[in-house]
Amino acid sequence: MGETSMYNAKVEVAELGNPILRAQAKKVLSFVGGEAEDEGLACIVAQMREVMQERNGVGIAAPQIGISQQVLIIASRPNERYPEAPFIEPVVMINPIIDVESSQTEKGWEGCLSVPGIRGYVSRAVQVSVNFVDVNGASQRWDLEGFPARIFLHEYDHLIGLTFLDRIDSVADLISENELAKR
Ligand code: NI
Repeated sequence: MGETSMYNAKVEVAELGNPILRAQAKKVLSFVGGEAEDEGLACIVAQMREVMQERNGVGIAAPQIGISQQVLIIASRPNERYPEAPFIEPVVMINPIIDVESSQTEKGWEGCLSVPGIRGYVSRAVQVSVNFVDVNGASQRWDLEGFPARIFLHEYDHLIGLTFLDRIDSVADLISENELAKR
């Protein structure tokens, strides 16, 4: 605060029913400091960080702020539901690709800025190896396990037009945030 911001303070979050959440996001073609067509990337990332922090999220994907591009952020930290979760500084993943996904899965609670008020008990792979490009344009490969893997898979789904609602086994695995908080 206090600094001149390069974007509007109020960024709208796309919610369930917004067609952008059903779209396949486009690949980012160039990077920060790159060609004009993507000169907005730094701005997109800044907006995503702001919304994620403001809403106390552990991850976000560009389509959620109305940008259909393959950019996501994961930011694991210990929390009420996942006290054992590791603390990971927010990492920006551009054009992420799932290389290996474990066949072993586990169920866990998920929420989403785009699905307000609802939590789902979602089955996800326990481990995932991902390739992506970082904000400097460098190729990275990360192995994620447990909660960070869950965050990644949740955010990755936003890039292919899916939400956690598409991943639940049964509507019986949906609950309101208020009801979950009572448990
Ligand atoms: Ni989400």
